[in-house]
Formats: sequence, C-alpha cells, structure tokens
Amino acid sequence: MPLYRSVTIAPGTQLLIWKITETLEELAEGVLLNDRCTVKMDKMKSEQHRKALLSVRRLIQEMGYTDFDLYYGPDGKPHLKDGTHISITHSYAFSAVIIGSSNTGIDIELQREKVITIADKFIEPEFSFLDPLHLEEYMRKLIVIWCVKEAVYKMISRKQLSFKQHINVHAFDMKDGTGKAGVHFAEIDDVYSFCFEEIEGFTLAYCLDNNGNG
Ligand SMILES: CC(C)(COP(=O)(O)OP(=O)(O)OC[C@H]1O[C@@H](n2cnc3c(N)ncnc32)[C@H](O)[C@@H]1OP(=O)(O)O)[C@@H](O)C(=O)NCCC(=O)NCCS
Repeated sequence: MPLYRSVTIAPGTQLLIWKITETLEELAEGVLLNDRCTVKMDKMKSEQHRKALLSVRRLIQEMGYTDFDLYYGPDGKPHLKDGTHISITHSYAFSAVIIGSSNTGIDIELQREKVITIADKFIEPEFSFLDPLHLEEYMRKLIVIWCVKEAVYKMISRKQLSFKQHINVHAFDMKDGTGKAGVHFAEIDDVYSFCFEEIEGFTLAYCLDNNGNG
C-alpha cells in the first residue's frame, strides 16, 4: 500500500503514515538516498529495517523533501536542513513522520502484553489512575503511556530525561484520543498536549512543543 494517511494536525504541520506492504524493490523505486544513508542501509541485516528506512524516505518525499534534506544530530534526532521540524517512527508494518513548524515527537508501537511486565520500568505516578483489574484497558493505556513518553523524549531529546522520573502522563480516557503530559527536568517545567490513536493493533502517539523547549 502506498501512503496510508496524510493529515494536517496543526497549521503547517503534517502527520504522514505509511503501511508497508511492498517489496523492498517496490519501496526503493524513485527513492534517492545520500551516501551515508546508503551505507547505513547496506549494513542493516533485517529486511524489515531496510523497508522502514525506505518507507520513511517515501513519506518525506510526499512532503517535497528527499534524504538529501535530512540529517541527524549526535543524539540521533533527525532534522531537516531548511529548519522545518521532523520526527520519525517505525514499527513492523508501519512508519510515520510528523513534519512541521513546531518541535515534535512521534512514536508507534505494536500492542503487546509484554508491556505489563515492564510497566514499573517506565511508570510511577501513572499507577494512581491505572486499574490492572481491567486487563485489556490496562494494557492499552500502558502502551499509550509508553508511546507518549517516547514521543516526548524524541521531542525534547535530552540524554538524562527519565521516562519514570521526569515525564508524568496525566489521567486520560481511551475514548478521547488526547491527554496531557508534564515534564519536570532541568529548566523544563511544562505540560504538553498529546494525541493518540490505535491502528490495526498498533498504538500511535505524538506531541508538539508549543512551549518553546527542546
Ligand atoms: C531513540 C529512541 C527514542 C527510539 O525510539 P524507538 O521507539 O526505539 O524507535 P522508533 O522507530 O519509534 O524511532 C526511531 C527514530 O527515532 C529517531 N530518533 C533517534 N534518536 C532520537 C533522539 N534522541 N531524539 C529524537 N528522535 C530520535 C530517529 O529518527 C529514529 O529513526 P531513524 O534512525 O530510522 O531515522 C529510543 O530508543 C530511546 O532511546 N528512548 C529513550 C530511552 C529510554 O528512556 N528508554 C526507556 C526507559 S524505560
């Protein structure tokens, strides 16, 4: 399938999702890669990872960019040379990017029960509003929280930022698809809005920084 979705989530800010159903050769059609990226892809042992890389380039090409416009900071955060912000995620059959005028973070994760066993590694205050007795909703909420924390991390990109200690996802309702997350770290003391949705057994979450941090 080519582009799965392209939607404007804020003025001048686009969310694009690719569902990978193509062969590697089909995905590579019309994709221009710079030398660094070609080397990176050649080193990848997994075809799935190569497909993820190519699908992300297909997504940025939808917005008029190519791999030659993309570079990475020493922290691994992607940037566009014209100063437009970008965040990238990929998981199995899906990849997604947000491209726009605000600093942003996006994450997509496969919904897996395993998240229950690692919950105490990335959650603390959130346990006050989670109910493990309602197992299915508990798992879905844990994955939303995980995605939100990954998205916030990508937006702020500070090495010492701890999911458990510094990012606090406030109580939210699965029906709403939105929520708020507080970040208290170094000079940052802010609350960010996030959006989330469930797509074919995956959870996607993103946030935009309208507070000027990161
Ligand atoms: C780097 C990290 C954010 C990647 O997230 P992920 O869910 O594993 O993988 P995703 O596919 O969603 O995202 C990968 C993309 O994130 C981007 N990325 C990597 N490092 C980044 C950073 N420091 N800031 C912003 N974006 C970053 C890259 O674009 C990368 O894709 P690409 O290399 O193909 O372009 C994540 O591994 C990480 O380090 N998280 C924070 C550490 C942490 O606290 N972990 C959990 C503690 S319980």
